[in-house]
Amino acid sequence: MTSSTSYIAREKHQDCESKAAILTWRDVQSALTLQVNSCTISLLPSVCAFDDFKRALNMVTGATDGIGKAYAEELGRRGFSIVLISRSQDKLDDMAKTVESKYGVQTKTIAADFSSVDIYSDIEEKLKGLEIGVLVNNVGTSYSYPEFFLGIPNLNSFIDTMVNINITSVCQMTRIVLPQMVERKKGAILNLSSASGMYPVPLLTVYSASKAFVDFFSRGLQAEYKSRGIIIQSVMPFYVATKMTGIRRPTLDKPSPERYVSAELNTVGLLDRTNGYLPTPLW
Ligand SMILES: NC(=O)c1ccc[n+]([C@@H]2O[C@H](COP(=O)([O-])OP(=O)(O)OC[C@H]3O[C@@H](n4cnc5c(N)ncnc54)[C@H](OP(=O)(O)O)[C@@H]3O)[C@@H](O)[C@H]2O)c1
Repeated sequence: MTSSTSYIAREKHQDCESKAAILTWRDVQSALTLQVNSCTISLLPSVCAFDDFKRALNMVTGATDGIGKAYAEELGRRGFSIVLISRSQDKLDDMAKTVESKYGVQTKTIAADFSSVDIYSDIEEKLKGLEIGVLVNNVGTSYSYPEFFLGIPNLNSFIDTMVNINITSVCQMTRIVLPQMVERKKGAILNLSSASGMYPVPLLTVYSASKAFVDFFSRGLQAEYKSRGIIIQSVMPFYVATKMTGIRRPTLDKPSPERYVSAELNTVGLLDRTNGYLPTPLW
């Protein structure tokens, strides 16, 4: 066991003193956690820290496609009621219908465009009185194609849009839900960073830097709120086959969103920072 894996195991001991049976499994799991490129991936499914949040609603931003849709479906499959947030009410309605009929859970939808910054008081109002157990800050946007900074068309509005969607949304949604989580001493926030946030990526500079922000924000916040019972996880996927990447056919190292999310969710409560899916960091 490396010093970092034994640290994770020790942390789990402190967190879950009363869950002796679970503890043993988690210790084994921590011991089987790999450190690759300073991120971590788990070799075994977790016992599911999410069971603590069964009573509350889970919320996913960018929930109508790709990784966000997969989070919403997987959380529904695991029996959680969900708040879905995305741009288009039509797509949200379809998604809500699917999740409700497939998994028998309740859904609430909020249409909001995260490229604007004046949406948050409305979101706050619509969430009033709701107990949010898990927030997945998934919404994100990238380049249509790799480009030099000065070659990006409509650079002025491109910058605003990317900062608003990739950075402001994460901070603002966290501002909205964290107070109630802290009050209950329970909650989890999963922030979709990216493997592109682990190193500077030329020709995707604004995207890469925005994802580094999400990673730093998550790690700092976890340090602030871990002792108050809150899980903040920085999720740093490599390629996943979604509209954003344009990868149509999933492969072993470029998984479907469903396969990615099902693996990633098993690391929640165990890893503060993860690439989320075993094969990808190996090449
Ligand atoms: N795919 C990858 O390989 C990969 C790798 C690393 C990190 N990530 C991160 O993972 C997250 C999800 O990526 P993805 O590949 O699943 O993206 P995606 O397939 O493009 O899906 C994005 C989702 O966000 C919604 N959305 C987009 N712009 C929005 C806006 N302005 N306001 C509200 N909703 C909006 C989309 O809804 P509409 O249907 O309305 O467009 C859709 O539901 C992103 O943060 C991304 O940076 C992805």
